[in-house]
Amino acid sequence: MMLKETLRPYSHETASARAAYYAGNMYKIKTSQARVISITSGKGGVGKTNVVANLAYALAQLGKKILVVDADLGLANIDILLGLTPKYNLQHVIMGQKRLAEVIVTGPGGIKILPASSGVEELTSLTMGQRKRLLAEFSLLDEAYDFVLIDTAAGISGNVIYFNLAASEIINVVEPDPTSFTDAYALMKVLSVKYGANNFKALINNVASEAEAKDIFEKLRLVTDKFLQIKLEYLGHILRDDKLREAVRLQHAVTEIYPYAKSSRCFYQIVKNLCNVPKGEIKENSINRFINRLLGKGD
Ligand SMILES: Nc1ncnc2c1ncn2[C@@H]1O[C@H](COP(=O)(O)OP(=O)(O)O)[C@@H](O)[C@H]1O
Ligand SMILES: [Mg+2]
Repeated sequence: MMLKETLRPYSHETASARAAYYAGNMYKIKTSQARVISITSGKGGVGKTNVVANLAYALAQLGKKILVVDADLGLANIDILLGLTPKYNLQHVIMGQKRLAEVIVTGPGGIKILPASSGVEELTSLTMGQRKRLLAEFSLLDEAYDFVLIDTAAGISGNVIYFNLAASEIINVVEPDPTSFTDAYALMKVLSVKYGANNFKALINNVASEAEAKDIFEKLRLVTDKFLQIKLEYLGHILRDDKLREAVRLQHAVTEIYPYAKSSRCFYQIVKNLCNVPKGEIKENSINRFINRLLGKGD
């Protein structure tokens, strides 16, 4: 069909998978155990990309397989933060010019990154052929991921909503300044009132102390308890740290080059909190569900 013959078949791809690919059939993605988590915020510049990069790196150090989806259309993206220069992105897959595995790049600690900032807008208006091809491409991924972390844009634009609803868990990054607080509330309000999302994890970044983070969290919980029908959990805090800024300048994750910096210790604590969630509490945690929701199929 529309698939170009120039595309290389994967070495692990069976003849029947290849046939299904051509036929555009949907079938189950192998990696059903991944937790798909979107990292989002109401306001920009609060540290989302750093959170994604460092949680990814710290989780990888614990032996977890990580896929990062860069879904932010903005400029200071995760590839720049990690000093990577991906040649292709999701758009090439949508257009049938590249296989998904050819677009995914490997970052520090073996984390995989799917550059999707170009292509994100097209996701909402795919042709049936493109949608089927994309589903088939995800189903053919060789790797079994433990976590998929999505770096979303800030605010309440269509794409942000889209990725947050497709994910199984939402981390809302909040900073001490008042605008970040009100924007964090506004985002949860839209996601819950208009779209029925009712579980959020708050990550308080850029604080001077854990007490400051707890204080911000309690204030946020006070208003969400009062006005919204949601469950808001405290995931953790990240201390304000010059070493993190320096790492950004050097185009590395702080956990990679300064593993003992105060912010790095916070990231490892958060990873611990994330991994400590009792199994029963994580429901429908599959890439399958994510992709199907993202592409407008299934639930
Ligand atoms: N914990 C922190 N300590 C010090 N500076 C921080 C911290 N978190 C974020 N920053 C600063 O904020 C900037 C923006 O962070 P970034 O992760 O790009 O935000 P976002 O992705 O939300 O736009 C970083 O380049 C860094 O300079
Ligand atoms: Mg960012």
